[in-house]
Amino acid sequence: MLYDQVEEAVAAIRQLSPLVPQVALILGSGLGELAETVEAAAAIPYAQLPHWPSSTVAGHAGRLILGQLEGVALVAMQGRQHLYEGYTPQEVTLPVRVMARLGAQVLVVTNAAGALNPAYQPGDFMLIRDHINLPGLAGWHPLRGPNDERFGVRFPAMTVAYDQELRALVQRVAGEIPSLHLHEGVYVMVSGPSYETPAELRFLRQIGGDAVGMSTVPEVIVARHMGQRVLGLSLITNSATGTEGQPVDHGEVLAAAAAASSRFVLLIRGVLRELAQM
Ligand code: 6GU
Repeated sequence: MLYDQVEEAVAAIRQLSPLVPQVALILGSGLGELAETVEAAAAIPYAQLPHWPSSTVAGHAGRLILGQLEGVALVAMQGRQHLYEGYTPQEVTLPVRVMARLGAQVLVVTNAAGALNPAYQPGDFMLIRDHINLPGLAGWHPLRGPNDERFGVRFPAMTVAYDQELRALVQRVAGEIPSLHLHEGVYVMVSGPSYETPAELRFLRQIGGDAVGMSTVPEVIVARHMGQRVLGLSLITNSATGTEGQPVDHGEVLAAAAAASSRFVLLIRGVLRELAQM
């Protein structure tokens, strides 16, 4: 049963670290560098954790870090799992449940995404205001199946999935970082792993998407199911429609993430510093 799996993973982590995190952080493609700056109490390879899916993609390290950053106790996933690796939405989100059970009341979730909004440039950031859960709307949903009331309610609301107070906080912090361009928009999740066709991208733009990616939404839904407050941040790595007819490739996505990494680290550290006061 999912509940018991979560408790077993929590117990395994507790044996390695007594830290009670306030914040859970999921680091997306190419954004794992931040984990190196954590004053780490423990760094646990995913393979050592029971029931924990391992990440299989280049650019995703696959370790759980517990420690302090900017005075905040946090648990960070250096590398995450995706549906396209073959995991179910339930498997992909087990780590979120475990981190919530460890004590984290806030989830900060990050990703690398392609721009649908023509005003977005590679290297910009997008604060996620709302999402469109395309796999979920079609039935590939992390809460599908019997509901365990110990986690949350059967029909959780998603009207304010992305916490307004946290969004205002990010806007404030971002305003103080030179050459950081922050937008606020709608993230559309697709399951991947192929990138989108031009017709698909026109569709995603028309239904209201500003950025497209292959992660994040299942984690956010499960975090909301468990009552966590959520902050979602996308790094725009490329124009989803490609540049001058050049197709998108994963190397380009990772290179853009690496180039923006220092601004990303400043932003997250600034956000944590503010959270420490809350
Ligand atoms: Cl263009 N599409 C998707 N689905 N994910 C991405 C991306 C594009 N760029 C970065 N991640």
